[in-house]
Order: sequence, then structure tokens, then C-alpha cells
Amino acid sequence: MGPDIAYLNGDLQPLAQTRISPLDYGFLYGYGLFETMRAYGGRVFLLDTHLERLYHSAEALEFPPIPSAGELSGAVTQVLAANGLKEARIRLTVSLGEGDMVPNPATCKNPSVLVTARQYTPISRETYARGYSTILSTVRRDSASVLSRLKTCNYLGGLLARQEARRAGADEAVVLNEKGMLAECSASNLFLVTDDLLYTPTVESGLLPGITRQTVVEIAGQLGIAVKVEELSPEALEKADEAFVTNSIMEIMPLTSYEGALVGEGKPGPVTLRLMAAYSRLVATGSTGLHACER
Ligand SMILES: Cc1ncc(COP(=O)(O)O)c(C=O)c1O
Repeated sequence: MGPDIAYLNGDLQPLAQTRISPLDYGFLYGYGLFETMRAYGGRVFLLDTHLERLYHSAEALEFPPIPSAGELSGAVTQVLAANGLKEARIRLTVSLGEGDMVPNPATCKNPSVLVTARQYTPISRETYARGYSTILSTVRRDSASVLSRLKTCNYLGGLLARQEARRAGADEAVVLNEKGMLAECSASNLFLVTDDLLYTPTVESGLLPGITRQTVVEIAGQLGIAVKVEELSPEALEKADEAFVTNSIMEIMPLTSYEGALVGEGKPGPVTLRLMAAYSRLVATGSTGLHACER
């Protein structure tokens, strides 16, 4: 492992000595936001899009001004360089910062900015070829809550769902909303393929609008695959020909079993494989090599 240098509020320092105030509202109340990003060959994929989501979320949570995009991307670059990382998993956390002991967000004047990064070894080819097994979580997303749509440090729902998956020996947990419709997974967005159409739940279903989700929708358009963003029931997953989950770290992961039953043929399907290949091309070259007209 490398030197493990973190960035906190303008300074690079050894992570082991990096300290946040015990009165930081991120710690006390989960009042914070984060972005998890992947660097390929030293370049952070879609960094600007991650920062846009962060600023949008900070506004929704009524944060005081946070450092500029130039400063935040500079912090990320510095952490990669200080740790000598090229293939990395990066976490940028912005919390509300220190405030009064009596809960009062107005007393927090200086948000804390923390950047950490670690070497990232991709998930094995065998796992992508086998696909993820999933269970249905008992955790529900509240489709009416803005919190379901933000990547906040209040991440308990996701962690509890993830633990349920681990206990069941599964790779991921599918999370429904309070109406019993599909929302997403513990730490990823969900897609289904049925009759060659690509389906994904609406943001209003109560999910984090993932950057990989959006990228997949765009790639599908370029490949001529029709995308339907709809309310979806768990039965749609049970009956799907193919399914997959997405996030910035694992990209596109086939979902091959759900609640002990195979999804489709129980192996990565043709549409999923096409999207995976196009995503890899986008990462490697900045383009899928296709345009909407080349169908
Ligand atoms: C709950 C949840 N949904 C979806 C995603 C995927 O988001 P992105 O594609 O922006 O990484 C994540 C990412 O970690 C997540 O935690």
C-alpha cells in the first residue's frame, strides 16, 4: 500500500493523523455528502459530473458555500499524486462542519472537505462472467423523501441492506420503495432487459440518480437500445430476460440471480454484454465509438 495521504480542508496529511471535530455535524447527524469516484490511468472518470451532483445536493441540503469546483478537483488531483495512484477509488466527503452541541445547522459556518483515495483492483473477470446474486432487502426507500435522491453521509439504509445481502451470502440487495416497487440496490442502480428493451426505475421511485445510470442510458441511446424509465415491480425483475446493476466503481455488473432464482438464463445477457463493452470503450477512449445514427 502507498503512503495513505488524505486532504482535509486545504492540507495534505497522513490519513492516520487526520482528525475531524467531534462536533462536526457529519459525525453527529450524518449531515454530509459524498462522492465515490474511480480513476483510470490517473484520470478521474466524469469528475465534473460528480462535482455537479455534489453542488446540487449541497444546495438541496442548504449548505453554506462550499469550495469551488477548481479547488475540489485540485484536492482530488493532489491526493492521487501524493499517493502515487493511477487506478484508484476516491472518496470526496463534504460535511456541514463544526457547530453547536444543540442541533442547529445555522451554527455550522465552515463545511469540512475530506478526500481519501486507495489503489483499486478491479473486480475479477470471473465475477463479471458469473454475475451478482441478489436478495430482496427488508430496507425500504421513501420515494417522497429528498434524502433518497442524495448521496448523503446518512447511509444507514444502504449499509443495512448490504449487511442483509452478506448474511444471506449474496452480492447485493434489491431495495423497494414504500409502495413495494423497485427502487435500486444497496449501493447501485438497477436495470432490467425484457424483449430487448432496457428498463430502469424512475428517480421518483426513490433512488440515487447515479452517474453510471445516466451514462448507461446515454450509451444505450448510441447503441440503438430503447430505454424505458418507469415504475417497476419486483415481478418485472423476476421475469426479466437480463438484469444488471451500476455504480462508478464496478461500472456495469450483470445481476444473474434474485432471491435464489435465476434471472433470465442466469448469465450475462447479450444486451448487458454490449453495454459493458461500450462502457469500457468510453472509459478507455472517451467515446463509445458509436453515434446515435450508426444503428
Ligand atoms: C444507493 C446508491 N445508488 C446508486 C449508486 C450509483 O451511483 P453512481 O453511478 O453515481 O456511482 C450508488 C453509488 O455508490 C449508491 O450508493
